[in-house]
Amino acid sequence: MALEQTFAIIKPDAIKAGNSGKIITMAEDAGFEILRLQKGQLSPELAELFYDEHKERPFFKELVEFISSGPIAIMALQKENAVADWRKLMGATNPAEADEGTIRKQFASSIGQNAVHGSDSAESAQRELALFFAEPAPAESPVE
Ligand code: RTP
Ligand code: MG
Repeated sequence: MALEQTFAIIKPDAIKAGNSGKIITMAEDAGFEILRLQKGQLSPELAELFYDEHKERPFFKELVEFISSGPIAIMALQKENAVADWRKLMGATNPAEADEGTIRKQFASSIGQNAVHGSDSAESAQRELALFFAEPAPAESPVE
């Protein structure tokens, strides 16, 4: 199977709790190559654009407020079957339903504050990677 890329976010709750290093280690231990890693904070405008698919949902305002409430880390992750495998490593959206050994089981405190994001399809991954990383992410691209 060919290498695939996915887009991931370490959300504000996990950064605030000091769990970003542990989450990155879990990604590396699961065989993901971290092609890009950048810390920053989303404006509410970019958060709305990012979560556009949820704009009609009752939790949209809360979701945008939370994801833009503090520092996050964004990542481009690469491995075979990266999209599905990262979703599997994240665990269920609601941590009460997340399997043992998943990131959300270990670090999420609620359905809203659930530690990580991962693209839900190859198409979403392309859209999200393009939204956050202007250039495609070859492993050998120079650091500027
Ligand atoms: P994400 O997009 O953040 O990776 O999470 P996901 O695919 O597992 O879940 P999704 O359905 O895309 O929902 C996006 C985020 O919205 C929040 N949410 N809140 N209060 C609620 O019922 C509710 N449902 C979803 C979660 O924080 C979820 O990660
Ligand atoms: Mg989602």
